[in-house]
Amino acid sequence: MNLKTKYLGLELKNPLIAGASPLTASVDSIKRLEDAGVAAVVMHSLFEEQINKQLHAIDYFLFNGSDSYAESLSYFPASDCLQNAEAEHYLEDLAEIKKATDIPIIASLNGVSSGGWVNYAKKLQEAGADALELNITYIPTDFSMDSHKIERMYLDVLKDVKTNTSLPLAVKMNAYFTNPAQMAKRFEEGGVDGLVIFDNPVRVDIDLETLTAVQKANLTSSSNLSETLRWCAILYSNVNLSLAASTGIHSAEDVLKALMSGANATQMASALLQNGPEHVKSVLDEMTLWMQEKEYVSVEQMIGSISLKHTDNPAAFERSNYMRALLSYRY
Ligand SMILES: Cc1cc2nc3c(=O)[nH]c(=O)nc-3n(C[C@H](O)[C@H](O)[C@H](O)COP(=O)(O)O)c2cc1C
Repeated sequence: MNLKTKYLGLELKNPLIAGASPLTASVDSIKRLEDAGVAAVVMHSLFEEQINKQLHAIDYFLFNGSDSYAESLSYFPASDCLQNAEAEHYLEDLAEIKKATDIPIIASLNGVSSGGWVNYAKKLQEAGADALELNITYIPTDFSMDSHKIERMYLDVLKDVKTNTSLPLAVKMNAYFTNPAQMAKRFEEGGVDGLVIFDNPVRVDIDLETLTAVQKANLTSSSNLSETLRWCAILYSNVNLSLAASTGIHSAEDVLKALMSGANATQMASALLQNGPEHVKSVLDEMTLWMQEKEYVSVEQMIGSISLKHTDNPAAFERSNYMRALLSYRY
């Protein structure tokens, strides 16, 4: 059985990528994922806030009161010469992970604004990353900010990152855009090599004991796969980009469906956090068995076979079937 696929120009031995999570933060757990058969790993993110935190702290100590002590500033190095401990630690981890593994390692930068933090794209490349995933998730709370301005912000971050690296680049999209299909096209025009469809934003809740709003990491189940399938199916063959299905990939069935909808590869985070890295092996085994039973010989053969372009029921991915689906519910 040929499970090979291509993602961002990388040759993957199978379509299972470990998505960014605490499991992809250490050499040990990434080695376990590799041993279980995962084809590539996206490291947990290096966040804009982590990079900027230290730069802001340095600025504060250097420039607070600088009017009165201007001459004293000349004793200090410029802030961009100073090392950012957290971000430097990430680079060291990446270099160590690269040394310890033989699978592609995709670094992840996570932020929303243009600025000095995007220089880290270059440092990640120098530290040995095989590709870069850029997670831009902005929740607009400014009522006067129109969709055009928000979209421009995403594209500006992409442009800044592109000027700092020649690594293959994926944008991890969210489904919040007015027209995700058009946004995917604009990312393509902006020079990305692939899209991750989709990120799953953190969960908002209210703690009734402390009476405060809280945010929690959001574990998914297979029932969250629907939007991923819909948009992979719509984008397949309409953009010239690699697609990685993400959110709701838990089982072999989920991987097979995502490939058929048009994804070149799949990313798994919650399922690995819940079941451990060894879950990869059982997913690959079940997937291979299913393919043998249905007489598929390769993963490539399946990709996009039930996308919007190829399905005999395109209405399932669009509005036209919406009324029938709701009205046919029997209770
Ligand atoms: C605990 C936790 C930590 C995560 N950390 C990151 C991260 O650092 N960067 C990122 O882009 N996504 C992060 N994610 C999102 C996952 O990579 C993934 O996009 C999301 O969980 C949906 O996929 P899933 O259904 O396989 O869990 C995290 C998710 C969880 C649950």
